Amino acid sequence: SSTAKRTDDGELEIGGVRASALLEQFGSPLYIVDEADVRKRAANAARDFGAAFAEIGAEVELHYASKAFLSIDVARWMAEGGLGLDVASGGELEVALAAGIDPAQIGLHGNNKSVAEIRRAVEVGVGSIIIDSLQEIERIATVAAELGKVQPVMVRLNAGIHASTHSYLATSHEDQKFGLTFDVARTAIARIRELESLSLLGLHSHIGSSIYEAAGFGAAADKLMRFRAELLANGPVPEVNLGGGFGIAYLPSDNAPKLADLARGIAAEVARACRETGSDLPKITFEPGRSIIGPGGTTLYTVGTTKSVDVPLEDGSAERLYVSVDGGMSDNIRPALYGSDYTVRLANRESVAGPQLVRVVGKHCESGDIVINSDYLPSDVAPDDLLAVPATGAYCWALSNHYNYLDRPAVVAVRDGAARTLIRRITIQDQLAADAAWSPEEK
Ligand code: LLP
Repeated sequence: SSTAKRTDDGELEIGGVRASALLEQFGSPLYIVDEADVRKRAANAARDFGAAFAEIGAEVELHYASKAFLSIDVARWMAEGGLGLDVASGGELEVALAAGIDPAQIGLHGNNKSVAEIRRAVEVGVGSIIIDSLQEIERIATVAAELGKVQPVMVRLNAGIHASTHSYLATSHEDQKFGLTFDVARTAIARIRELESLSLLGLHSHIGSSIYEAAGFGAAADKLMRFRAELLANGPVPEVNLGGGFGIAYLPSDNAPKLADLARGIAAEVARACRETGSDLPKITFEPGRSIIGPGGTTLYTVGTTKSVDVPLEDGSAERLYVSVDGGMSDNIRPALYGSDYTVRLANRESVAGPQLVRVVGKHCESGDIVINSDYLPSDVAPDDLLAVPATGAYCWALSNHYNYLDRPAVVAVRDGAARTLIRRITIQDQLAADAAWSPEEK
């Protein structure tokens, strides 16, 4: 994160707070959020997209994809930065509402929204519900009619773009669950236009996540604008949402796209498609998640044990040093799920020992419980050392779990030398309290 640096005595400090002080106060492991970094990325994204689309004369709005990480404070940071929110469940919607976010600035996603989720969203007046099936059209229309409301909706398209990312993160090839084909979308839109309790706000596309190449976004924009031009014959289509998915630098070798460049490239495609089809410019929306919150997050761990295993390694050495930390796949499941790579740093001290290739592993009962597959640490790394894993702000706490009844680590915001809890540690006492056979007397 951008405020991470070393103190004079070699300790890692984020937001002006020392790693050791953070773990002492909040326990280990711990998620740190660099508030200044996150706020700056949100503001810069709004500025960069705003400038690029102002150049073609289109209005643009960003919705933070809250699935990446959401707490009440983070929702407020986004609103203060001028971003709306994309929520993907009734639960995310409740957090947004608890933060006091204007419902008109919220878009509700999901391929299988329950009627209860739909009712809550329509009742509070969310700005859009993004439709992902034909059945859902009738469900939303019925609820809105019952409540005497007209609900703005978007139709999510599967634009058929093969985004170059992990197959679990690609959402716009043919064989996956999200979006409607253009043919089905024609039927959907005709139906929406018939229903008095719905209004067609626009079209939506999200081609996937963790994408490093600009081409797919431009191609999706082009397809949606051409489809919109066709739909304009039968009524207005005021907005086009082009989703999120912008990749970030997890490793020094990752070539993360600059949002300003991406924005300009997509804006050019939008302008060209509108010109060629003779249509007006719609309002354009984006839903970045990872690129806003990811880089500003760091996970801190404490080393418990180390172990050398004889195995020939890529750097020519004959043994691998396994370094075990006090968390693992419960606080970051991304290496196990997607084969994701991160880097690791010694956080509590400087070392003059030479670099040693290590594998950082968690404490779970699974050999796939890997935090860092392969990176270098000083060869004198030892129990009680602290390790920092940067770029864990997105989809780490959000995907965390209680495997082996581990705690869910706290999430702490740091800024200007002060730390405060965003989400407290969820402990074994919290978990036991959910066990129906647990009685407090036996504590
Ligand atoms: N909009 C929609 C409709 C989405 O489905 C997503 C992500 C986003 C926006 C935000 O994408 P972002 O800008 O954060 O890449 N668990 C996976 C990521 C799943 C993404 C799901 N949808 C991971 O850990 O990489």
